[in-house]
Amino acid sequence: MTSRKPAVLVTGANGEIGHSLVRRLAADGANVVALDVREIDAACRTHCTATQVGDINDLAMLQRLGVEFEFTSIFHLAALLSTRGEFQPELAHRVNVEGTLNLMRVAVESAANSGYAVTFMFPSSIAVYGIADTKTRASAPPVSEEQYLAPQTMYGCNKLYGEHLGRYTMHHYRRLAAEQHPTIDFRSIRFPGLISADTVPSGGTSDYAPEMLHAAAKGEPYACFVRENMRLPFMAMPDAVDALLQLAEAPKANLSTHVYNIGAFAPSAAEFATLVREFFPKANISFKPDLLRQAIVESWPADVDDTRARRDWGFKPLYDLRRTFSEYLIPGVRRRYGMTS
Ligand SMILES: NC(=O)c1ccc[n+]([C@@H]2O[C@H](COP(=O)([O-])OP(=O)(O)OC[C@H]3O[C@@H](n4cnc5c(N)ncnc54)[C@H](O)[C@@H]3O)[C@@H](O)[C@H]2O)c1
Repeated sequence: MTSRKPAVLVTGANGEIGHSLVRRLAADGANVVALDVREIDAACRTHCTATQVGDINDLAMLQRLGVEFEFTSIFHLAALLSTRGEFQPELAHRVNVEGTLNLMRVAVESAANSGYAVTFMFPSSIAVYGIADTKTRASAPPVSEEQYLAPQTMYGCNKLYGEHLGRYTMHHYRRLAAEQHPTIDFRSIRFPGLISADTVPSGGTSDYAPEMLHAAAKGEPYACFVRENMRLPFMAMPDAVDALLQLAEAPKANLSTHVYNIGAFAPSAAEFATLVREFFPKANISFKPDLLRQAIVESWPADVDDTRARRDWGFKPLYDLRRTFSEYLIPGVRRRYGMTS
Protein backbone atom coordinates (compact mmCIF):
# COMPACT_ATOMS: atom_id res chain seq x y z
CA MET A 1 0.00 0.00 0.00
CA THR A 2 2.97 2.29 0.65
CA SER A 3 6.66 2.50 -0.26
CA ARG A 4 7.64 4.60 2.71
CA LYS A 5 10.31 3.14 4.96
CA PRO A 6 8.83 1.64 8.16
CA ALA A 7 10.23 3.42 11.21
CA VAL A 8 9.68 4.24 14.86
CA LEU A 9 9.50 7.95 15.65
CA VAL A 10 10.92 9.12 18.99
CA THR A 11 10.23 12.76 19.87
CA GLY A 12 12.29 14.38 22.63
CA ALA A 13 14.98 11.84 21.71
CA ASN A 14 17.76 13.95 23.18
CA GLY A 15 16.24 13.87 26.66
CA GLU A 16 16.79 11.58 29.64
CA ILE A 17 14.40 8.81 28.60
CA GLY A 18 15.12 9.34 24.90
CA HIS A 19 18.80 8.48 25.25
CA SER A 20 18.07 5.07 26.78
CA LEU A 21 15.01 4.34 24.67
CA VAL A 22 16.64 5.06 21.30
CA ARG A 23 19.52 2.72 22.17
CA ARG A 24 17.14 -0.07 23.15
CA LEU A 25 14.87 0.32 20.12
CA ALA A 26 17.85 0.24 17.76
CA ALA A 27 19.26 -2.84 19.52
CA ASP A 28 15.89 -4.51 18.92
CA GLY A 29 16.29 -3.81 15.19
CA ALA A 30 14.00 -0.79 14.75
CA ASN A 31 14.66 2.01 12.25
CA VAL A 32 14.61 4.92 14.67
CA VAL A 33 13.79 8.44 13.53
CA ALA A 34 14.86 10.76 16.35
CA LEU A 35 13.40 14.24 16.70
CA ASP A 36 14.32 16.94 19.19
CA VAL A 37 14.32 20.72 19.31
CA ARG A 38 17.92 20.49 20.49
CA GLU A 39 20.79 19.03 18.46
CA ILE A 40 20.75 15.26 18.93
CA ASP A 41 24.06 14.26 20.42
CA ALA A 42 26.47 11.86 18.77
CA ALA A 43 25.87 9.02 21.25
CA CYS A 44 22.19 9.00 20.32
CA ARG A 45 22.68 9.72 16.59
CA THR A 46 24.69 6.57 15.98
CA HIS A 47 21.61 4.47 16.80
CA CYS A 48 19.28 6.34 14.45
CA THR A 49 18.20 5.81 10.87
CA ALA A 50 17.47 9.55 10.63
CA THR A 51 17.51 12.54 12.94
CA GLN A 52 15.59 15.77 12.76
CA VAL A 53 16.21 18.92 14.76
CA GLY A 54 12.85 20.64 14.98
CA ASP A 55 9.94 21.77 17.08
CA ILE A 56 6.87 19.56 17.56
CA ASN A 57 4.79 22.70 17.10
CA ASP A 58 5.96 22.75 13.47
CA LEU A 59 3.21 20.63 11.90
CA ALA A 60 4.56 21.00 8.34
CA MET A 61 7.93 19.55 9.41
CA LEU A 62 6.20 16.62 11.15
CA GLN A 63 4.07 15.96 8.08
CA ARG A 64 7.17 15.94 5.86
CA LEU A 65 8.62 13.23 8.09
CA GLY A 66 5.33 11.36 7.77
CA VAL A 67 5.64 11.45 3.97
CA GLU A 68 9.16 10.04 4.11
CA PHE A 69 8.58 7.33 6.73
CA GLU A 70 5.80 4.89 7.58
CA PHE A 71 5.56 5.29 11.33
CA THR A 72 4.59 1.96 12.83
CA SER A 73 4.84 3.47 16.30
CA ILE A 74 5.53 6.81 17.92
CA PHE A 75 7.11 7.31 21.32
CA HIS A 76 6.12 10.88 22.05
CA LEU A 77 8.55 11.97 24.78
CA ALA A 78 9.01 15.66 23.91
CA ALA A 79 7.61 17.89 26.65
CA LEU A 80 8.24 20.87 28.86
CA LEU A 81 8.56 19.47 32.38
CA SER A 82 6.80 20.53 35.58
CA THR A 83 9.13 23.15 37.05
CA ARG A 84 9.72 24.93 33.74
CA GLY A 85 6.00 24.73 33.05
CA GLU A 86 5.23 26.73 36.19
CA PHE A 87 7.48 29.55 34.94
CA GLN A 88 6.05 29.45 31.41
CA PRO A 89 2.57 27.90 31.59
CA GLU A 90 1.41 29.15 28.18
CA LEU A 91 4.52 27.74 26.51
CA ALA A 92 4.01 24.46 28.40
CA HIS A 93 0.47 24.27 27.04
CA ARG A 94 1.70 24.96 23.52
CA VAL A 95 4.36 22.27 23.62
CA ASN A 96 2.61 19.67 25.77
CA VAL A 97 -0.90 19.96 24.34
CA GLU A 98 -0.71 21.50 20.87
CA GLY A 99 2.52 19.63 20.11
CA THR A 100 0.89 16.37 21.22
CA LEU A 101 -2.14 17.10 19.05
CA ASN A 102 0.22 17.63 16.07
CA LEU A 103 1.87 14.26 16.68
CA MET A 104 -1.51 12.55 16.92
CA ARG A 105 -2.54 14.16 13.63
CA VAL A 106 0.59 12.87 11.91
CA ALA A 107 -0.06 9.42 13.42
CA VAL A 108 -3.65 9.45 12.16
CA GLU A 109 -2.49 10.49 8.67
CA SER A 110 0.12 7.74 8.70
CA ALA A 111 -2.50 5.20 9.82
CA ALA A 112 -4.88 6.25 7.03
CA ASN A 113 -2.07 5.70 4.51
CA SER A 114 -0.80 2.41 5.84
CA GLY A 115 -4.18 0.95 6.79
CA TYR A 116 -3.34 0.06 10.41
CA ALA A 117 -3.43 1.92 13.73
CA VAL A 118 -0.13 3.50 14.78
CA THR A 119 0.97 2.57 18.29
CA PHE A 120 1.21 5.87 20.18
CA MET A 121 3.20 5.71 23.41
CA PHE A 122 2.67 8.64 25.75
CA PRO A 123 4.70 9.04 28.95
CA SER A 124 2.36 10.64 31.43
CA SER A 125 3.22 11.38 35.03
CA ILE A 126 2.21 11.28 38.69
CA ALA A 127 1.79 15.05 38.16
CA VAL A 128 -1.75 14.29 36.90
CA TYR A 129 -2.69 13.76 40.55
CA GLY A 130 -3.51 16.64 42.85
CA ILE A 131 -4.07 15.79 46.48
CA ALA A 132 -5.54 18.80 48.24
CA ASP A 133 -3.90 18.55 51.68
CA THR A 134 -1.09 16.81 53.52
CA LYS A 135 -3.43 15.00 55.93
CA THR A 136 -5.25 13.30 53.05
CA ARG A 137 -1.92 12.53 51.41
CA ALA A 138 -0.48 10.97 54.55
CA SER A 139 -3.48 8.70 55.10
CA ALA A 140 -4.13 7.77 51.45
CA PRO A 141 -3.27 4.20 50.40
CA PRO A 142 -1.33 3.84 47.13
CA VAL A 143 -3.34 5.88 44.64
CA SER A 144 -5.23 4.19 41.79
CA GLU A 145 -5.58 5.56 38.25
CA GLU A 146 -8.99 7.18 38.88
CA GLN A 147 -8.32 9.02 42.15
CA TYR A 148 -7.38 12.64 42.86
CA LEU A 149 -7.29 13.79 39.22
CA ALA A 150 -7.13 17.49 40.02
CA PRO A 151 -3.59 18.49 39.00
CA GLN A 152 -2.11 21.66 40.47
CA THR A 153 0.51 22.33 37.77
CA MET A 154 0.15 23.29 34.13
CA TYR A 155 2.31 20.24 33.31
CA GLY A 156 -0.07 17.94 35.22
CA CYS A 157 -3.09 19.47 33.47
CA ASN A 158 -1.35 19.04 30.11
CA LYS A 159 -0.51 15.38 30.79
CA LEU A 160 -4.03 14.55 31.97
CA TYR A 161 -5.50 16.22 28.88
CA GLY A 162 -2.93 14.42 26.69
CA GLU A 163 -4.29 11.12 28.07
CA HIS A 164 -7.82 12.23 27.15
CA LEU A 165 -6.69 13.31 23.67
CA GLY A 166 -5.20 9.85 23.21
CA ARG A 167 -8.38 8.09 24.34
CA TYR A 168 -10.49 10.37 22.10
CA THR A 169 -8.26 9.87 19.05
CA MET A 170 -8.19 6.10 19.55
CA HIS A 171 -11.94 5.63 20.03
CA HIS A 172 -13.86 8.64 18.71
CA TYR A 173 -11.74 10.61 16.22
CA ARG A 174 -13.93 12.45 13.68
CA ARG A 175 -16.76 10.09 14.51
CA LEU A 176 -19.26 12.02 12.39
CA ALA A 177 -17.13 11.91 9.21
CA ALA A 178 -18.48 9.74 6.39
CA GLU A 179 -15.29 7.75 5.97
CA GLN A 180 -13.59 6.04 8.91
CA HIS A 181 -9.90 5.02 8.98
CA PRO A 182 -7.68 3.34 11.54
CA THR A 183 -6.19 5.93 13.92
CA ILE A 184 -3.91 5.25 16.86
CA ASP A 185 -3.44 2.53 19.42
CA PHE A 186 -2.86 4.83 22.40
CA ARG A 187 -0.98 3.51 25.43
CA SER A 188 0.19 5.63 28.33
CA ILE A 189 2.24 5.13 31.48
CA ARG A 190 2.07 7.50 34.44
CA PHE A 191 5.71 7.50 35.43
CA PRO A 192 6.95 8.27 38.92
CA GLY A 193 10.20 10.25 39.30
CA LEU A 194 12.91 8.61 37.19
CA ILE A 195 16.55 8.29 38.16
CA SER A 196 19.25 7.85 35.54
CA ALA A 197 22.96 7.21 36.01
CA ASP A 198 23.75 8.60 32.57
CA THR A 199 21.95 11.93 32.44
CA VAL A 200 21.35 14.79 34.86
CA PRO A 201 17.72 15.87 34.83
CA SER A 202 16.52 19.41 34.35
CA GLY A 203 13.15 21.03 34.83
CA GLY A 204 11.32 18.29 36.76
CA THR A 205 10.04 18.66 40.31
CA SER A 206 11.18 15.18 41.38
CA ASP A 207 14.73 16.04 40.31
CA TYR A 208 16.00 16.40 43.91
CA ALA A 209 16.79 12.66 44.16
CA PRO A 210 18.95 12.37 41.03
CA GLU A 211 20.46 15.83 41.67
CA MET A 212 21.56 14.69 45.15
CA LEU A 213 23.31 11.67 43.68
CA HIS A 214 25.05 13.44 40.79
CA ALA A 215 26.22 16.26 43.08
CA ALA A 216 27.72 13.72 45.51
CA ALA A 217 29.50 11.93 42.66
CA LYS A 218 30.96 15.24 41.47
CA GLY A 219 32.02 16.20 45.01
CA GLU A 220 29.66 19.20 45.04
CA PRO A 221 27.42 20.25 47.94
CA TYR A 222 23.67 19.84 47.43
CA ALA A 223 20.79 21.61 49.14
CA CYS A 224 17.66 19.48 48.73
CA PHE A 225 14.58 21.57 47.87
CA VAL A 226 12.07 19.33 49.69
CA ARG A 227 11.73 18.34 53.36
CA GLU A 228 13.54 15.27 54.71
CA ASN A 229 10.31 13.34 55.30
CA MET A 230 8.98 13.97 51.77
CA ARG A 231 8.09 10.62 50.23
CA LEU A 232 7.56 10.12 46.50
CA PRO A 233 7.52 7.12 44.14
CA PHE A 234 10.63 6.65 41.98
CA MET A 235 12.02 4.20 39.48
CA ALA A 236 15.36 3.39 37.86
CA MET A 237 15.63 4.42 34.21
CA PRO A 238 16.20 0.87 32.83
CA ASP A 239 12.90 -0.24 34.39
CA ALA A 240 11.12 2.80 32.90
CA VAL A 241 12.41 2.03 29.40
CA ASP A 242 11.59 -1.68 29.82
CA ALA A 243 8.07 -0.71 30.85
CA LEU A 244 7.56 1.48 27.76
CA LEU A 245 8.76 -1.30 25.47
CA GLN A 246 6.75 -3.96 27.30
CA LEU A 247 3.52 -1.97 27.13
CA ALA A 248 4.13 -1.14 23.45
CA GLU A 249 4.43 -4.88 22.71
CA ALA A 250 1.57 -6.09 24.92
CA PRO A 251 -1.32 -7.83 23.12
CA LYS A 252 -4.15 -5.33 22.84
CA ALA A 253 -6.67 -7.87 24.12
CA ASN A 254 -4.87 -7.91 27.48
CA LEU A 255 -5.19 -4.16 28.05
CA SER A 256 -8.11 -3.12 30.22
CA THR A 257 -7.30 0.61 30.09
CA HIS A 258 -5.27 3.14 28.08
CA VAL A 259 -3.34 4.53 31.06
CA TYR A 260 -1.32 2.72 33.70
CA ASN A 261 0.38 3.66 36.95
CA ILE A 262 3.74 2.09 37.62
CA GLY A 263 6.09 2.38 40.59
CA ALA A 264 9.11 0.63 42.05
CA PHE A 265 10.03 2.21 45.42
CA ALA A 266 8.92 5.22 47.40
CA PRO A 267 11.69 6.50 49.69
CA SER A 268 11.66 9.70 51.72
CA ALA A 269 14.23 12.32 50.72
CA ALA A 270 16.15 11.49 53.94
CA GLU A 271 16.25 7.77 53.10
CA PHE A 272 17.56 8.62 49.66
CA ALA A 273 20.23 10.89 51.18
CA THR A 274 21.28 8.12 53.59
CA LEU A 275 21.94 5.77 50.68
CA VAL A 276 23.85 8.45 48.76
CA ARG A 277 26.04 8.98 51.87
CA GLU A 278 26.58 5.23 52.21
CA PHE A 279 28.21 5.13 48.76
CA PHE A 280 29.70 8.64 48.87
CA PRO A 281 30.65 9.16 52.54
CA LYS A 282 31.89 12.69 51.83
CA ALA A 283 28.54 13.75 50.30
CA ASN A 284 27.57 17.19 51.56
CA ILE A 285 23.75 17.10 51.53
CA SER A 286 21.61 19.62 53.37
CA PHE A 287 17.86 20.24 53.35
CA LYS A 288 16.64 23.71 52.43
CA PRO A 289 13.01 23.26 51.41
CA ASP A 290 11.74 25.60 48.75
CA LEU A 291 8.17 25.89 50.00
CA LEU A 292 6.71 26.50 46.56
CA ARG A 293 8.33 23.46 44.95
CA GLN A 294 7.68 21.45 48.12
CA ALA A 295 3.95 22.24 47.77
CA ILE A 296 3.93 20.82 44.24
CA VAL A 297 5.55 17.58 45.37
CA GLU A 298 3.09 17.44 48.27
CA SER A 299 0.17 17.40 45.84
CA TRP A 300 1.54 14.22 44.24
CA PRO A 301 0.86 10.81 45.82
CA ALA A 302 3.37 9.26 48.23
CA ASP A 303 2.88 5.98 46.35
CA VAL A 304 0.86 4.59 43.46
CA ASP A 305 -1.14 1.40 42.96
CA ASP A 306 0.19 -0.36 39.85
CA THR A 307 -1.87 -3.55 40.14
CA ARG A 308 -3.34 -3.11 36.64
CA ALA A 309 0.05 -2.80 34.92
CA ARG A 310 1.27 -5.91 36.73
CA ARG A 311 -1.87 -7.85 35.81
CA ASP A 312 -2.43 -6.67 32.19
CA TRP A 313 1.09 -6.63 30.75
CA GLY A 314 3.30 -8.19 33.39
CA PHE A 315 5.00 -5.06 34.72
CA LYS A 316 7.63 -6.11 37.26
CA PRO A 317 10.50 -3.73 38.02
CA LEU A 318 13.91 -5.37 38.35
CA TYR A 319 15.32 -2.69 40.61
CA ASP A 320 14.30 -1.99 44.19
CA LEU A 321 15.92 1.00 45.91
CA ARG A 322 19.06 -0.77 47.13
CA ARG A 323 19.64 -2.62 43.88
CA THR A 324 19.09 0.64 41.97
CA PHE A 325 22.02 2.11 43.91
CA SER A 326 24.38 -0.84 44.07
CA GLU A 327 23.94 -2.28 40.58
CA TYR A 328 22.85 0.66 38.45
CA LEU A 329 23.40 4.16 39.81
CA ILE A 330 26.73 3.82 41.58
CA PRO A 331 28.58 1.93 38.80
CA GLY A 332 26.96 4.28 36.25
CA VAL A 333 27.86 7.57 37.92
CA ARG A 334 31.38 6.34 38.70
CA ARG A 335 31.81 5.60 34.99
CA ARG A 336 30.23 8.90 34.00
CA TYR A 337 32.50 10.99 36.22
CA GLY A 338 35.63 8.90 35.57
CA MET A 339 35.98 7.68 39.17
CA THR A 340 38.25 4.71 39.76
CA SER A 341 36.95 3.56 43.16
N1 LIG B 1 12.05 11.97 33.81
C1 LIG B 1 11.01 11.82 34.62
O1 LIG B 1 11.16 11.73 35.84
C2 LIG B 1 9.63 11.73 34.02
C3 LIG B 1 8.57 11.36 34.86
C4 LIG B 1 7.29 11.30 34.34
C5 LIG B 1 7.07 11.57 32.99
N2 LIG B 1 8.12 11.91 32.20
C6 LIG B 1 7.83 12.23 30.81
O2 LIG B 1 8.69 11.52 29.94
C7 LIG B 1 9.01 12.30 28.79
C8 LIG B 1 10.51 12.41 28.63
O3 LIG B 1 11.04 12.93 29.84
P1 LIG B 1 12.58 13.20 30.04
O4 LIG B 1 12.88 13.01 31.47
O5 LIG B 1 13.36 12.45 29.04
O6 LIG B 1 12.58 14.77 29.76
P2 LIG B 1 13.75 15.68 29.16
O7 LIG B 1 13.41 17.09 29.51
O8 LIG B 1 15.07 15.13 29.53
O9 LIG B 1 13.52 15.46 27.60
C9 LIG B 1 12.52 16.09 26.88
C10 LIG B 1 13.09 16.38 25.51
O10 LIG B 1 12.09 17.05 24.75
C11 LIG B 1 12.71 18.04 23.98
N3 LIG B 1 11.73 19.07 23.64
C12 LIG B 1 11.18 19.99 24.46
N4 LIG B 1 10.35 20.79 23.78
C13 LIG B 1 10.36 20.34 22.49
C14 LIG B 1 9.71 20.76 21.31
N5 LIG B 1 8.88 21.80 21.31
N6 LIG B 1 9.94 20.08 20.16
C15 LIG B 1 10.81 19.02 20.13
N7 LIG B 1 11.46 18.60 21.23
C16 LIG B 1 11.24 19.25 22.39
C17 LIG B 1 13.82 18.58 24.86
O11 LIG B 1 14.82 19.24 24.10
C18 LIG B 1 14.31 17.32 25.55
O12 LIG B 1 15.41 16.75 24.89
C19 LIG B 1 8.33 13.66 28.98
O13 LIG B 1 7.13 13.65 28.27
C20 LIG B 1 8.06 13.70 30.47
O14 LIG B 1 6.95 14.47 30.76
C21 LIG B 1 9.39 12.00 32.68
